[in-house]
Amino acid sequence: MAKKFYVTTPIYYVNDKPHIGHAYTTIAADVLARYHRLAGEEVFFLTGTDEHGAKVAESAEAANKTPQEFCDENSAKFQMLWDRLDISNDAFIRTTSSYHQQGVAAFLNRLKEAGAIYEGEYQGLYCTGCENFITEKELVDGKCPNHDKAPQVIKEKNYFFKLKDYLPKVKELLDSGELKILPTSRHQEVLGLLRQGLDDFSISRQSVKWGIGLPFDNRQVTYVWVEALQNYITALGYGQIDEKFAKFWPADIHLMAKDIIKFHAIFWPAMLLAAGLEVPKVIFAHGFFTVDGQKMSKSLGNVIDPDALIDELGAEAVRYLLLSQFPFGADGDVKASNFVIQYNSDLANGVGNLVSRVLAMADKFLAGKTPDQDKEFADEMAGIWRQYREAMAAFQIDKAVEVIKKWQIFCDGYIERHKPWALAQTNNNQLAKVIYNLLEALRHLALMLYPIMPITADKILISLGQTDWQASSLPDLSRWGGLKAGTKVVKGEALFPRLEK
Ligand code: MSP
Repeated sequence: MAKKFYVTTPIYYVNDKPHIGHAYTTIAADVLARYHRLAGEEVFFLTGTDEHGAKVAESAEAANKTPQEFCDENSAKFQMLWDRLDISNDAFIRTTSSYHQQGVAAFLNRLKEAGAIYEGEYQGLYCTGCENFITEKELVDGKCPNHDKAPQVIKEKNYFFKLKDYLPKVKELLDSGELKILPTSRHQEVLGLLRQGLDDFSISRQSVKWGIGLPFDNRQVTYVWVEALQNYITALGYGQIDEKFAKFWPADIHLMAKDIIKFHAIFWPAMLLAAGLEVPKVIFAHGFFTVDGQKMSKSLGNVIDPDALIDELGAEAVRYLLLSQFPFGADGDVKASNFVIQYNSDLANGVGNLVSRVLAMADKFLAGKTPDQDKEFADEMAGIWRQYREAMAAFQIDKAVEVIKKWQIFCDGYIERHKPWALAQTNNNQLAKVIYNLLEALRHLALMLYPIMPITADKILISLGQTDWQASSLPDLSRWGGLKAGTKVVKGEALFPRLEK
């Protein structure tokens, strides 16, 4: 039976349209999903939108819409963007869907039956921007430092989750590596939070109306974070149809940025333990984008609109450029002015130029007919694949990109050393060998590119006469010699026309 791989993104709030921060996480998840499918695994890739809570309700009111209308409109914006970016998610969950609501009721009932929920009185300062309580100590000039807004004082009857009962077990799972937090700096951060000590948290709201009623007390709605986390299991049919849940749970990786690590690395595993379910295997928190050195924010007017970027550079280039800005996991600054420069150097002059050069030479010197097999690169290629697989297995997408670049530069160097145009005058045997090696090298380059730039990869493979390559998986595809003698190869149009700017 094929190995399974379950990858998720956070479900994004629909209080606004998507920006490149959301696109970054989703593209990264898509790369992992496509890589694991290519490796022959059975993949479930989930993304979606988080639609309840005070923040969304307030934004809907400000827009003069009902919350549901508002959610429908904004959720569609996310789905449209993912279509434009060729995101290959297997499901798109909306927390306003009835299957999510039913799954949440089943899960909360299970927590209640397990004795993990109790009633209590709560008083605290609530920041709707964070959708979370905030302590006096965290305030700066009486305001939430992340949202520059004074929190509301909330005093109400709530239901609480006995978080403290499960913390020792969460710590044990972290120590044993059964629950991995990556990169390791984030693991340390989570241990620090555990050392400081955490209180039980309230799982319901009395004053908020836009939410899922508690199955055991309809006067309260479920705290938005508590139901949002459950999307990872309700999307698999938890509480209703067990087949998908049994097959794909636990998640192999929950991807997100560092802002929401506490919810995922502590609260979520604790809730799962209370319900008697397995915890996710890996929680990976990548860094935060800043733009030209500043936090992306509407008021600064520096929010990069992914649609505008796609209009300018194309979806494939946007996927590549976002992922190759900085190491996956670290914080990084994006300079909008660099995108065109890097497009020209990496894509137009790099991959694009290599592909068109090689195909043009095969066309000109050999009438587009693949020569007999040669094995000059077989060992190098195996080494490159090893590095690529290791990078992907460690979720180091930027390293996988580096490996691809290295291979492209190696091929460029090979052309310069062997000068096929000169061999065409003097040595036809040697010319045939060199062209075979280059064509086969392109096939491998395209396969490595596939998770990152799927359309480009497919175009290259089709130019190489590989129309049904998707029927095989990496163990076969990555073997040297897949390109058969006699296969017709054709020059395509330029993959990445140079941009002038
Ligand atoms: N709805 C919650 C998540 C619930 S998951 C059960 C939420 N939504 S969000 O819309 O605020 O999305 C946060 C996520 O968006 C981050 O974790 C990250 O994946 C992505 N990013 C948002 N801004 C970003 C940057 N500036 N840089 C990188 N990623 C960013 O939190």
